[in-house]
Amino acid sequence: MDKRSLKGKVAIVTGSGRGLGYGIAKKLAEEGATVMISDVNEENAKNAVASLKELGAEADYILCDVSNWEQADALVKGTIERFGKIDILVNNAGINRDRTLKKMTKEEWDSVIAVNLSGMFYTMSPTVKHMIENQYGRIINISSASYLNGNIGQCNYAAAKAGVIALTRTAGKELGKFKITCNAIVPGFMKTEMTANVPDKAKEIMVGKISLGEMGTPEDVGNMVAFLASDEASHMTQGIYNVDGGMIL
Ligand SMILES: NC(=O)c1ccc[n+]([C@@H]2O[C@H](COP(=O)([O-])OP(=O)(O)OC[C@H]3O[C@@H](n4cnc5c(N)ncnc54)[C@H](O)[C@@H]3O)[C@@H](O)[C@H]2O)c1
Repeated sequence: MDKRSLKGKVAIVTGSGRGLGYGIAKKLAEEGATVMISDVNEENAKNAVASLKELGAEADYILCDVSNWEQADALVKGTIERFGKIDILVNNAGINRDRTLKKMTKEEWDSVIAVNLSGMFYTMSPTVKHMIENQYGRIINISSASYLNGNIGQCNYAAAKAGVIALTRTAGKELGKFKITCNAIVPGFMKTEMTANVPDKAKEIMVGKISLGEMGTPEDVGNMVAFLASDEASHMTQGIYNVDGGMIL
């Protein structure tokens, strides 16, 4: 038996219309999983499904703003209705609203906490009940390198991403007895639309902090997610795995 294969598994990836989320969805599909794409952007979600289908994968999409409790619940229920179960939940959806603490507005604080942290609880809550019934599950949460040392202009983002680590470790402790694993991935500085507008000078400084000397890609994160989702990683939970080329902020 190929313990790396995800054939027969059903995965939800939030925020998978583009960027890291799409890279993760693509890798899971390549390993044989059926993938529920989910995003707030319908055009990107449709395109993502079309690309996965071109690879021969089974895929569909449900529009979902993860910071909305009802929509997150509908995503989970809709996936079970459409594909029969959920084996893998990848919480990837995230936004940044960067500004120094002195200037940050309440809206900027609230929106980042709502999407990047509360949104994870909103999708995990109904999913976990389903996974407990199945006595199986893989939950993979996307944090960020800023969680540990902080990053200037990102007090909201860094706080949310540190919360993701605490949520992941606690969930792992609670869910282990149901054969559900919960791990976090910490990407560094990655080539996606989120970082596309970072000025060249700032990009140079960030890349200078990466031992391997270059930005990471959605594929790099997808590879790690696919491994953690597979049966090869069945004894791994509560872990925090850097995919950052050796970056220290
Ligand atoms: N790019 C990086 O350097 C980097 C580094 C560390 C961590 N991350 C994290 O990785 C994840 C993906 O980042 P990315 O670089 O691909 O960003 P991105 O902006 O390119 O993609 C994010 C996706 O999430 C979707 N999204 C936004 N708000 C949403 C919501 N409320 N509900 C559902 N979907 C929503 C967007 O429409 C988009 O498709 C985020 O959690 C981000 O914090 C990114």
